[in-house]
Amino acid sequence: MCGIFAYLWDKEATPYLLNWLRSLEYRWYDSAWVCVINNEKNIYLKKATWRVSNLASKIQGENKNLNNFNTWIAHTRWATHWKVTENNTHPHFSNNDRFYVVHNWIIENYIDLKKELEKKYDFYSDTDTEVVAKLFEDLFEKDLVTTLKKVLNKIEWAYAIAVMDKENPFEIVWAKLWSPLVVGIWIWELFISSDSNALKWITKEFISLEDNEYVVINNTGYHIYSGEEKLNKKSEEIEHNEDDDKLWNFTHYMEKEIYQMPEVYGNAISWKVNFEEHTIWSNTLEKLWNLDFEKIEIIASGTSYYSAWVGAGYFEELSGIPTTIHVSTEFKYKRHFIDDKTLYIFISQSWETADTRDCLKIVKERWGHTFGLVNVVGSTIARLTDMWLYTHCWTEIWVASTKAFTWNLAVLLLMALHLWNKRDLDYNKYREILSEMESLQDKMTKVLANANKIKALAEKYSKYKNMFYLWRNLLFPIALEGSLKLKEITYHHSEAYPSGELKHWPLSLVDENFPVVSINPTWKFYEKNISTMKEVKARDWIVIWVVSENDENKNLYDDVIEIPNTSLELTPFTISIALDLFAYFTANHLWREIDKPRNLAKSVTVE
Ligand code: AGP
Ligand code: GLU
Repeated sequence: MCGIFAYLWDKEATPYLLNWLRSLEYRWYDSAWVCVINNEKNIYLKKATWRVSNLASKIQGENKNLNNFNTWIAHTRWATHWKVTENNTHPHFSNNDRFYVVHNWIIENYIDLKKELEKKYDFYSDTDTEVVAKLFEDLFEKDLVTTLKKVLNKIEWAYAIAVMDKENPFEIVWAKLWSPLVVGIWIWELFISSDSNALKWITKEFISLEDNEYVVINNTGYHIYSGEEKLNKKSEEIEHNEDDDKLWNFTHYMEKEIYQMPEVYGNAISWKVNFEEHTIWSNTLEKLWNLDFEKIEIIASGTSYYSAWVGAGYFEELSGIPTTIHVSTEFKYKRHFIDDKTLYIFISQSWETADTRDCLKIVKERWGHTFGLVNVVGSTIARLTDMWLYTHCWTEIWVASTKAFTWNLAVLLLMALHLWNKRDLDYNKYREILSEMESLQDKMTKVLANANKIKALAEKYSKYKNMFYLWRNLLFPIALEGSLKLKEITYHHSEAYPSGELKHWPLSLVDENFPVVSINPTWKFYEKNISTMKEVKARDWIVIWVVSENDENKNLYDDVIEIPNTSLELTPFTISIALDLFAYFTANHLWREIDKPRNLAKSVTVE
């Protein structure tokens, strides 16, 4: 989703705004603009499609003196209606060239509104947002706030909007319904942004706006309202890790974040597990222990959904709790059987995945027990769930989710072990896994030490435009995740299928141009997988084999990636690093824009 930024500033702020846009660019980046008004009511407006750097070169190329400009708004757009053109780039303005509007998300009833407004006003763009600008002109009464309330009564779901009035250049009004907005406060200065990430270099003090609240920022400060009521909202401190944005000696942020996976795992368990006493504890896990439920449903999207799938394996195989997983977009529209004997877990590493949030709203409205795994302090999902665990895996900046996946696995495993212990199931198995967890971070680091070998394989196989990821049981979702990463950043096709399915249809596809990645650590399905892969090799097809160290059959296959020996339940932690590296090095060899894969955004906040 796109990012909005606004500020009342009495001095040249362009360099700051461009920096803030760049920090929002991971949310989306198909066009950007800066718009300012000065006290002579002049507008300076610059738009550019695609990268913020295009906008920067346009502005710097002009070398215009903007010192007496004081109301600044900047925005990176994610085109939902319609194409990426300068004409469709925000801000959108009224026919009388008075109101300038920027908007996140979608005005769902814009077509009906536009039909009426076209009788009176000329439209120049295809966007839904332009309707809002025309509404301000059409409904204007007295001042921006009065008009804002009338406009909000007209538009439907969902938005974060900002409006400037050329006739009143010292004021910006903001309103939100479901799309995130925070007010950053720093000494006497005020900022508004789609998320706190853009402001972390300036302040840690934020006020998150709730739905139907609106804020007026002018030279007397900020004033937050809900309807007619003026609110006195307390700010909260949102910590950001200063290192999040440093690339250090890595080539891409994704590479850096893969190398953070072992440390993120260590952080996730460090303060919850006492290895000497073989105990797991946290306030939230304690609350979970005391909650009476008989089954679990986990709702998430994309990589988070695959971590949910592994988690479901943990809850069923270890804790003996029936668990169902749902892709958010599907859960949202299915028939719901929400009861108080089910725990609903929501997983989202980003700020505000719309579909997952909508599912949370559905469950909350029916009094289901909700538990959130989130990566951002103060995010909507965190604020709406009954219980939550923060990943604290620092900000995951760029599109491909890596370290948050590791954190999700760690927390889901701890939850499963914690709940299992409550059910007095096989205590020896509990102890065996828990004690292995103590050395897992080193084993994950060992996979990273193998990076050059994985890099060589990735480069060798980067010419193949199709690939199968095959394995089964608890590791099947890791195949799906490995396949997702390869597709997401290389744009090559890959499929993940249970290896037991090979004969049902995948075998028809496998040939010399469709290599198979099969993972077969030393585990209960080892022999089954050997015989399945022999069928592939019998037809001289290529198999990249990911096995435990010193596997005696590894010479059967074309290439091998070795992972340290661990119990089955812990192999997802090591294998996911190997497959993320495989995808990363493949994409790097293909010169892909890894941190900003085409058509994708970090935070999918439109449905
Ligand atoms: C994963 O690499 C993708 N960026 C994408 O599938 C992502 O996992 C999905 O959009 C869910 O995001 P969330 O965890 O922020 O909800
Ligand atoms: N729906 C608006 C558009 O397509 C805003 C999209 C956004 O950037 O959130 O322009």
